[in-house]
Amino acid sequence: MNARRQSTRTNVTEKQILSTIKYVAGTKPVFLLSEIAVYLDAPQSAGQIYAVLRPHLKEFGLAAKKCGEDFEISRVLPPQIYFPNETESKRIDSLPDENTFPPALEQAIEQYITRKVGKDWTDPVILERLRRAIVAQKDDYWKPAHKRSLQYTKGYAVLGYLAYHFPVYFMQTRLLMAMLAREGLLKNHMTILDVGAGPGVVPLAIADFYSRLDMATATIHAIERSDEHIEAFTYLTQQGGTPKTRATIEPPIKADITGAVKDQLPDGIDLMVFSNVLNELPGSVKDRADIVMGFAEHLAPDGSILIAEPAEEVTSSGLRSLSLAVKKQGLSIYSPCSFIWKTNCTPDRCWSFVTAPPIRPTPLMNTLAACDEPFRYVNTDIKYSYVILRRDGKIREPYCVPHGSRVLRLSRIHLHVEKRINIIASKMSEDLGDKENHMFKLCDGSAEKPVYAVLPGFHITPENEVILSAPYGSVLELEGVLVRYNKEHDAYNVLVSRSTRIADVHDKI
Ligand SMILES: C[S@@+](CC[C@H](N)C(=O)[O-])C[C@H]1O[C@@H](n2cnc3c(N)ncnc32)[C@H](O)[C@@H]1O
Repeated sequence: MNARRQSTRTNVTEKQILSTIKYVAGTKPVFLLSEIAVYLDAPQSAGQIYAVLRPHLKEFGLAAKKCGEDFEISRVLPPQIYFPNETESKRIDSLPDENTFPPALEQAIEQYITRKVGKDWTDPVILERLRRAIVAQKDDYWKPAHKRSLQYTKGYAVLGYLAYHFPVYFMQTRLLMAMLAREGLLKNHMTILDVGAGPGVVPLAIADFYSRLDMATATIHAIERSDEHIEAFTYLTQQGGTPKTRATIEPPIKADITGAVKDQLPDGIDLMVFSNVLNELPGSVKDRADIVMGFAEHLAPDGSILIAEPAEEVTSSGLRSLSLAVKKQGLSIYSPCSFIWKTNCTPDRCWSFVTAPPIRPTPLMNTLAACDEPFRYVNTDIKYSYVILRRDGKIREPYCVPHGSRVLRLSRIHLHVEKRINIIASKMSEDLGDKENHMFKLCDGSAEKPVYAVLPGFHITPENEVILSAPYGSVLELEGVLVRYNKEHDAYNVLVSRSTRIADVHDKI
């Protein structure tokens, strides 16, 4: 038989195998591949049938288990979304008020410092070295990314990170997990990957968060390249006292996330976290987007990528540029951005971040602060920028401005200076104002320059006050705001007055 005829026959057999399996899978939740053989024109062993089926298992929603010479095929049940029950929801909702860093973890950090330096952490010489490390890190941070030395990957610098940054990032991660739970983005069991894990802030915070859930479980993997950080990670995850009954923390994978790590990653990751790491990588937005896209290949089809970065202006707007770059490469931005005009945005001046109640200073911070410049060593503010990305196109805010609406796109705001307009836009900041004027960043996805709503305190009325309490990211309709150009900041302010009406678009429908 010539090669062409042979190949045609193989294709026919393969097609018949696949269509038969599809048919049988539709009628039986579990079956053996040997059962398929009887329906086929040409005799095939279970092994041969399996070889044909294997590349299509995921697409057919099937799983295979070897049973001797045969294979048991079963339908993969769609992963179950984890909906917290009432008690769990109460525990989750109280997280912003839990502002004390867990004492057991604080003690583990103190013990780790003592162990590493060979003297008690309260020794004045040690405290002074920690102070110097903290100041050096902060000075480094304000430099442009390509000039930073990323010193905190070594010796005292890691200890300084534990003393100064760890508590705030830990509490912040718990809040982000609470948000994912509320939004229905957690499943009954989660495979989680923390990329650029440092000393284990994210895994420990996730384990702490899971201790508040009754049924959900998680396996947390982590990647980190620095030995010093891995050593701290290992100590703190073993000694940190964080309950791990519902979450298992795997030993970190030592790898460079900009290199070839694919073979070392688990498949079907439900949640990937990049916390305070992407902004540190050298290269362009495109380079970072490529890294995120590479990792996204390991995401479950309904998985999420969470990127969190410090709220500082350059880093924060860098995150928005990165978000748009990966959106253009096929990921969807689930939140916080909404694209209500179905346009892509101009992210380069988008400075948008979340604020949460501050944490209480830890005993270690207070001890370090017992000096001439105490403010340098106390880090309690929670401010961060985040984005959640998806592969399946899911978005939090499906609202689109209805056709024929008499509202102005913010891309045309420059044509309406000193005029009253109606707009629909998301509230993209907490209150940025002062005692007299409340101020909120607005975005409708079309603006080329930043736009802020300004509400003087004496203009608050029941018709416009919803802007004060609306959650970050909610879409508001503002009727009758006056446009002003702010030359100093090259931005637009829309002034909310007593006659302005503001409503959440979902309350209007
Ligand atoms: C600011 S720390 C953040 C640690 C942790 N994710 C958090 O939020 O606290 C950044 C971490 O990323 C790690 N990192 C930076 N570049 C990396 C790379 N190319 N590969 C692996 N890890 C990297 C650093 O070693 C450091 O531990």
